[in-house]
Amino acid sequence: MTDTATIEIDNKKYEFPIVKGTENEVAIDISKLRASTGGVITLDSGYKNTGSCESAITFLDGEKGVLRYRGYSIEELAEKADFLEVAYLLIFGELPTKEQNDKFHDDIKAESAVDEDIKKILDAFPKAAHPMGVISSLTSALTAFNPSSVNVDSEEDMYKSVVRILGKMPVLVAWTMRKKQGQPLDYGDNSLGYVENLLKMMFSRPNSCYVQNPVLVDALDKLLILHADHEQNCSTSTVRITGSSHAGLFASLSAGISALWGPLHGGANQAVLEMLEAIQEDGGDTKKYMAKAKDKSDPFRLMGFGHRVYKNFDPRAKIIKKAADQVLHDLGVEDPILEIAKGLEKEALEDQYFVDRKLYPNVDFYSGIIYRAMGIPIEMFTVMFAIGRLPGWIAQWREMRLRKEPIGRPRQLYIGETSRDFIPINKR
Ligand code: ACO
Repeated sequence: MTDTATIEIDNKKYEFPIVKGTENEVAIDISKLRASTGGVITLDSGYKNTGSCESAITFLDGEKGVLRYRGYSIEELAEKADFLEVAYLLIFGELPTKEQNDKFHDDIKAESAVDEDIKKILDAFPKAAHPMGVISSLTSALTAFNPSSVNVDSEEDMYKSVVRILGKMPVLVAWTMRKKQGQPLDYGDNSLGYVENLLKMMFSRPNSCYVQNPVLVDALDKLLILHADHEQNCSTSTVRITGSSHAGLFASLSAGISALWGPLHGGANQAVLEMLEAIQEDGGDTKKYMAKAKDKSDPFRLMGFGHRVYKNFDPRAKIIKKAADQVLHDLGVEDPILEIAKGLEKEALEDQYFVDRKLYPNVDFYSGIIYRAMGIPIEMFTVMFAIGRLPGWIAQWREMRLRKEPIGRPRQLYIGETSRDFIPINKR
């Protein structure tokens, strides 16, 4: 391949360097396009062809169904590592030694208590508030309680913010859920592992002793690992672009949580279950909903199917499907919703519309099924995704800061009115 790409405009040729990534991905570096052409820009709605940064964190090949964090395959990490090891790997670039791992965990534990005044904020939310809105607000509020987190140029303050948010997020999540359920808040138990402590804080009851189920601990640990990063998706790009203005980590994460909330992104796991329930209530006719999904005059889409980058299969979906089977088997769950899910999956995989468009079940098709079996309320599903994605957001934010990336500020092609005279209100 040549080293440059040529763009010709009005018989004038402009050359731009071709850059290659370590996995031989190719990009045309158009950073000088506007300056050299006198104002021409590229237009790429939805950024389907636009690389926003160079990154050494996550590699994915959507055609081959490959996902690697810092070079390690997602399959191997899900099988052999735990969530905090993966978090360390993503954020700091290497798997931790035993000492580094212990210190990281201790530092996170040391920061796991949240200020009691956070409860006042939590109390002010109506019970009906969506947990994603609550978590986004509480994450933003952490800046007020930890003002040093805005010192984005200090490595030491950056590290403190990292362990703080990893320590406090499970508490915020569990408290948000318990508040909604009218349960007293649980302060957790720092002698437990990260995931065990999260489960205890979510599910303990004041009048009984919480007993851990290793199958659930393992499945949740895997789910968090599978969600931990996914390069420049909508929420991660939001975190990076927010942080590019030198906003602090908590503010940037709060923006990312809001971006994750939408049903085309993290909100899909909630949307999947709501869709399955709606199909069940409507008599369980999956064929009717398959037809709706294919009807271009109907806005309905089969939630949990399709992915912006995975066009053959979602490697995370493969792993999580197995975990889902195990959880359901171990818990002895018999749920009519699952039959509907299986029916849709089978029909979609054999349907020409879905085959032609390379629409396969994504990770969120199965994650919702596990969360439901675990007793997690539907509205909390996307929040569980947010806990998983936390290390990825942090790693991407940190990389962006350490690389001293410029403020993110896309251009536009203006298509509005050209200059016109103001008409006084009595003449309009
Ligand atoms: N159901 C029915 N048709 C679909 C679906 C679907 N779930 N997804 C895509 N299509 C169709 C589109 O209508 C389009 O058809 P056309 O070519 O005839 O116009 C074609 O497939 C391509 O779709 P796009 O929207 O262009 O694909 P894009 O890559 O932009 O969208 C997305 C990806 C947003 C994930 C989409 O597949 C979707 O809406 N899926 C359902 C929501 C979902 O599950 N989101 C979770 C994503 S995973 C995550 O965030 C962790």
